[in-house]
Amino acid sequence: MKRDIIAGNWKMNNTQAGTKALIKDLAPLVADATCEVVICVPFTDIEVARKAIRGTNIKLGAQNVHWAPKGAFTGEISAEMLKELKVEYVIIGHSERRQYFGETDASVNARTKAALLGGLKVILCVGETLEERESGKTAEVVIRQINGGLEGIEKADLKKIVVAYEPVWAIGTGKTATAQEANDTIAIIRKAVRKLYGKTAANALRIQYGGSMNAKNASELMAMPEIDGGLIGGASLKAPDFAAVVHYNK
Ligand code: 13P
Repeated sequence: MKRDIIAGNWKMNNTQAGTKALIKDLAPLVADATCEVVICVPFTDIEVARKAIRGTNIKLGAQNVHWAPKGAFTGEISAEMLKELKVEYVIIGHSERRQYFGETDASVNARTKAALLGGLKVILCVGETLEERESGKTAEVVIRQINGGLEGIEKADLKKIVVAYEPVWAIGTGKTATAQEANDTIAIIRKAVRKLYGKTAANALRIQYGGSMNAKNASELMAMPEIDGGLIGGASLKAPDFAAVVHYNK
């Protein structure tokens, strides 16, 4: 059985003090969660977060990882470094990375391979821009991102991957894809995965929706058959808001 996964992407928010306080507030609120609960924090908050989540059901994630095991890559962080800090998940290929930091399907693929090799689980992000959606290219874009991102990755490793479908136009804008739109595109993504790995593996893959997901719309989105979780930005920064999303089924 697949278990739904709700992950918070804190992006570039919270210093160490804020991290401690937020986790302290959040932990009791999500202790009864039936889904998997993850927070993906800035690198500088990882150590503090690791200590703060001890004894809770909250799992730890990071927001990026480099493709090389080590070397002259100023400003980057390796899988081994994250693993040492007990990081379990890492977000790769977020649209903000693609948009502002030149991330490509090839670099996303290289980072994904490095993460898997280093023993991390991956939240692999895909999603179309507004322009791509309006010109009818949504399917083409997400299929390309899936094929590129997963290129050369073994079927056995697919179990360690979660895909996040985040339409770029819905991120931080307050505009959510309708539950039906999200479900339809996720079905397209799953079909692309099925072509690569077969039906059983594709059905077992967890695919999240992300983009202005919050307490109000989480239940409707999560009720859709193709949606197995959420990747939450803004609403993950306040404990009651994130807890409400985690309790989408209550
Ligand atoms: P918002 O929930 O703030 O729209 O962000 C979504 C997102 O980008 C999560 O990775």
